Amino acid sequence: MLVNAIKEYQLRVDDQLKQRFSTLEDTAPQLKAAMTHGALLGGKRIRPFLVYSVGQMFGVPLEKLDACAAAIECIHAYSLIHDDLPAMDDDALRRGQPTVHIAFDEATAILAGDALQTLAFEIVTEAVPGITSEQHIAMVRALAKASGYRGMCGGQAIDLASTDKHIDLKALTQLHNMKTGALISCAVELALIAANAPKDQYQTMMEFAHAVGLAFQVQDDILDIIATTEELGKPQGSDAESNKSTFPQLLGLQGAKDTATQLIQEALSALAKLPYNSQLIADFARYIIERRI
Ligand code: IPE
Ligand code: IPE
Ligand code: MG
Ligand code: MG
Ligand code: MG
Repeated sequence: MLVNAIKEYQLRVDDQLKQRFSTLEDTAPQLKAAMTHGALLGGKRIRPFLVYSVGQMFGVPLEKLDACAAAIECIHAYSLIHDDLPAMDDDALRRGQPTVHIAFDEATAILAGDALQTLAFEIVTEAVPGITSEQHIAMVRALAKASGYRGMCGGQAIDLASTDKHIDLKALTQLHNMKTGALISCAVELALIAANAPKDQYQTMMEFAHAVGLAFQVQDDILDIIATTEELGKPQGSDAESNKSTFPQLLGLQGAKDTATQLIQEALSALAKLPYNSQLIADFARYIIERRI
């Protein structure tokens, strides 16, 4: 069942993250505390969920997926810490807590993001029985590509450049694919690499991931309007206040909802092509656009 699986994988990745954080020395205690604040206080853990659930669908044991799940969550946590900085979205609340630059200071938040990013690469290259060097190289490349210029950072740069401007649907779709879709697709890709998935199935799963990744950010834009600050744990109305380019802003609320529904239909059609029991992942795809948090 979806709720149980989400809980199980949340607990599992939290445990994995806690283990890695506990082995960090106390040479820079303020930095370690800020990293812990940014990575361990809450979060839905949807990227680790995808690593675990897709890996399991392909028959990969959870132990072979732990490092990938922890690594991608470190990249995500870093992206949120920097996203909230005054120079970016300038938000003071995240996961129901003060953002890292509020709880600590700006310089520490920048460094905590940097350190979480490099920690992700340290973790994803940990020796794991049954994972080859070739697989490790492919994982590093996938994570680097999704996080950097061609992915999340590139998307964040376009997001900032598109603020206070009108951009068309094509440009907005590219922005969302890069800033959020890339990392969500990467979660699926890491599991596929761990599974040594056959090429045709790999492509089908990446079609699924692409649709889910875009739908996830469309829903995030919708929630910025329709959910409450309490539900979200982050400031409601932040996009409108900053005059961000979003799907509801361009298509209206109903247009954005219709787009999200259509994307999830595409994701489900891709999944249905595979010869596996994909019920859990299909339920997860539906949850992406039904969620209120
Ligand atoms: C929020 O991501 C930022 C986006 C990329 C849309 P999540 O909604 O996954 O945030 P947490 O990790 O659950 O807090
Ligand atoms: C998130 O976009 C993009 C990231 C890469 C972190 P948002 O700026 O919409 O995310 P929230 O709404 O602050 O979580
Ligand atoms: Mg942002
Ligand atoms: Mg933001
Ligand atoms: Mg948002």
